[in-house]
Amino acid sequence: MSKPKFQTPTGMHDILPHNQAYYDKIYDAIKKVSSFYDFEKIDTPILEDFNLFTRSIGENTDIVEKEMFTLRTKGKDFLALRPEGTAPIMRSYIENGFVSLPQPVRLWYFGPFFRYEKPQSGRFRQFHQFGIEIIGEKDAIVDAQSILIMYSVLQELGLKNIIVKINSIGDDKCRPIYRKELVKYLREKKSSLCSDCQKRIKTNPLRVLDCKNDKCKEVLLGAPQSVDYLCDECKKHLKDVLEYLDELKIPYCLDSKLVRGLDYYTRTVFEIESTREESCGVALAGGGRYDNLAKALGGGEIDACGAAAGIERIIGEMKENKVKMPLGQVPEVFFTQIGPLAKKKSLSTLEELRKAGFQVGESFGKDGLKAQLGKASRLGVKAVLILGQKEALNDKILIRNMQTSKQVEVNQKDIVKELKQILKEK
Ligand code: HAM
Repeated sequence: MSKPKFQTPTGMHDILPHNQAYYDKIYDAIKKVSSFYDFEKIDTPILEDFNLFTRSIGENTDIVEKEMFTLRTKGKDFLALRPEGTAPIMRSYIENGFVSLPQPVRLWYFGPFFRYEKPQSGRFRQFHQFGIEIIGEKDAIVDAQSILIMYSVLQELGLKNIIVKINSIGDDKCRPIYRKELVKYLREKKSSLCSDCQKRIKTNPLRVLDCKNDKCKEVLLGAPQSVDYLCDECKKHLKDVLEYLDELKIPYCLDSKLVRGLDYYTRTVFEIESTREESCGVALAGGGRYDNLAKALGGGEIDACGAAAGIERIIGEMKENKVKMPLGQVPEVFFTQIGPLAKKKSLSTLEELRKAGFQVGESFGKDGLKAQLGKASRLGVKAVLILGQKEALNDKILIRNMQTSKQVEVNQKDIVKELKQILKEK
C-alpha cells in the first residue's frame, strides 16, 4: 500500500481507541490521589506568551533554545505552545490573585505539551503530562509530599520497581559558590568536553552535569558536587526531605549529577525512574522546588514545589509490566429488528433502554435476523430483543433468554420491567 498523502506531524500521534483506556486510567489515578490530598484541578491555555517560558525555564536551556513551537498571531503577539505546566500555573496563580487565598494553593493538571525534540522512544513532540503544584509553602514536608504523590500514582497504576533520584542544587546563597567551583573545574577540563558543554561553561554550567556524552561523563567523575556546597538551611531542608522519604519507605538514591533541564529550580530536584534495565535513565516523572519562579514572573516571594509525569512513558511501562486493563462496556442485551416498521421503532426503543441503564448492542445496518443474531452470540449477551413486523404492529416485543433459550412475548411498555426480571434469572 502506498503511503497516505496526509500523516500526523513528526513526533505527534493519534491516541487510537485501543489506547484510550490507558489515558482514562491514568487520569482517574491522579484525580483520586490528588483529590485525597486536597488538590484542585486547573487547566491553562495551550498557547502562552513566549516570554513566560524564557523568564521561567531560562534562556540558555534546551527547551527554550531548541524545543519551542512558536507562532506570531495576526495581532503580532508572539506565542509558544506550552512545553511544560509549571510556568503557566504560576502565571495563573499571580494573575488570579491566588496569593490572597489560604496557602498553600494545591493544583493538579492533565493535558498535552509540546517540545520540538528529536523523536525517539519515549520522546515525542506532542506528549501528555499530569502534574501537581503546591504553591505558597516552604516546608520540606511538601517536597516529600510531591514525591509521595507521584510515587503513589505510579504504584496505583501497577508500576513496580521504580526509584526516586534526588539532589539539592541549593539556593541563591549557596548555589553561586558551587557554580564558581564547578566553572573553575570545567575550565581546566574544557578541551575534553563536547562542543555543547564547552559553550555551557559560560551559559549554563550546571547543565554540563547531565550531559549524556561519554567524554563529558568521564570528566564529570571528578567534578565538585552541589551537596558539598549547601548552606546550613539548604542542608537541613535536604535532610528533612530525606527523613520523610525514609519514614515513607520510598526507595531513593542521591544523585549528585541531577540538575534538571529547567532553570527555575532551587533546593530539591528529583526524578522517578523505572529500574528495568531497558528503561533505565528515562524519567517517568520529574519535579522539584522553585522558590524564585514567582519573583521571576513579577509576583512576590512565593515558595513552591511540584512535579509532572510523562503519560506516554507511563503507558509504555504499564504495557511492559502487563498491567491488566478493564474491558470496555460489554452489552448484556442485543436488540434485533425485522421489517420496516420495526426498524423505524428501533431507535426510540433503544433510547428507552439506554435511559433505563441497560448496555445494549445492535446491528442496525443489517436487516436479516441471522446476521443480527450472529453478532449477538459473538458478544455473548444474556438476552436478545426481537422486534418483528407483527410485534411492531401490536406494540409487543420478544425477549429471548440466551442462557435458557426460553422466549417470551411482552408488551412494549413493560420492556424495562420484564428485561430486568429476565436478566436476574440464572
Ligand atoms: P520535565 O522533567 O521536563 O519537568 O517533564 C516531566 C516529565 O514529562 C518527564 O519526566 C517525562 O516523563 C515527560 N516528558 C518530558 N518531555 C517529554 C517528551 N518530549 N516526550 C514524552 N515525555 C516527555 C517538567 O515539565 C516540570 N514542569 C515538572 C515540574 C512540576 N516541576 C515542578 N513542578
